[in-house]
Amino acid sequence: MQEKDWLIRWQKNQIGFHDAEVNSHLKKYISASDLKPGDTIFLPLCGKSADITWLAEQDFQVIGVELSAIAIESYFSEQGLSFDRVESGRFITRSSRNIHLLEGSFFDLRHQDLGDCSLVYDRASLIAFDEPTRTRYAQWMRSIIGNDTDILLVTLDYNQSEMNGPPFAVSTHEIMRHFESAFQIDIIRQTEIVDESPRWRSKGLSSLVESVYQLGEK
Ligand SMILES: C[S@@+](CC[C@H](N)C(=O)[O-])C[C@H]1O[C@@H](n2cnc3c(N)ncnc32)[C@H](O)[C@@H]1O
Repeated sequence: MQEKDWLIRWQKNQIGFHDAEVNSHLKKYISASDLKPGDTIFLPLCGKSADITWLAEQDFQVIGVELSAIAIESYFSEQGLSFDRVESGRFITRSSRNIHLLEGSFFDLRHQDLGDCSLVYDRASLIAFDEPTRTRYAQWMRSIIGNDTDILLVTLDYNQSEMNGPPFAVSTHEIMRHFESAFQIDIIRQTEIVDESPRWRSKGLSSLVESVYQLGEK
């Protein structure tokens, strides 16, 4: 998937990854965390996720980055939120109160765009990329967040020969390879979910394991 392919997906509304519900792992993680109102949470490759609104309602500062203007404008219109629009060199930023969505590429982000971010919430972001791009993503992420920023990471793993990505299969071994030099990695949960939606079996999958990782200070 090239960047233009994602833009076409949004134009054609081919967004099977979008979940209208707030992610249950995110809710559990936040309620058990010591994050405080006003802390910044960054959503890479945010789409028009319902999680943005839920996090904003918990009084966090929410920053998302997303390639597609359609995704971002749909987010604000579906949530009934008006926004301010500011164009800078690398991004067009649309903001509504404590929500700031940057239209542009994750790979153009710099540390100053995120400031002192407390948590990265990655749902379906790392797994949106093929393996070479995942390596680049992990390295870029480490370069733009602070040393004390945790990552809540939700991934999928399956037999890659049974289906073409995205979502791509990502193993725990690969997560270790990308992140263990910089983070303490805890597996919060690993669950077989192949029967949670009929679409997975219809795509040919015999197993689909969802993993939730906490990447924290070593
Ligand atoms: C699988 S979707 C996940 C969206 C969201 N995290 C969610 O849970 O609904 C991946 C999203 O990343 C966006 N995307 C792909 N490459 C990107 C990049 N380099 N920078 C920013 N967004 C990107 C796509 O347009 C798409 O909306």
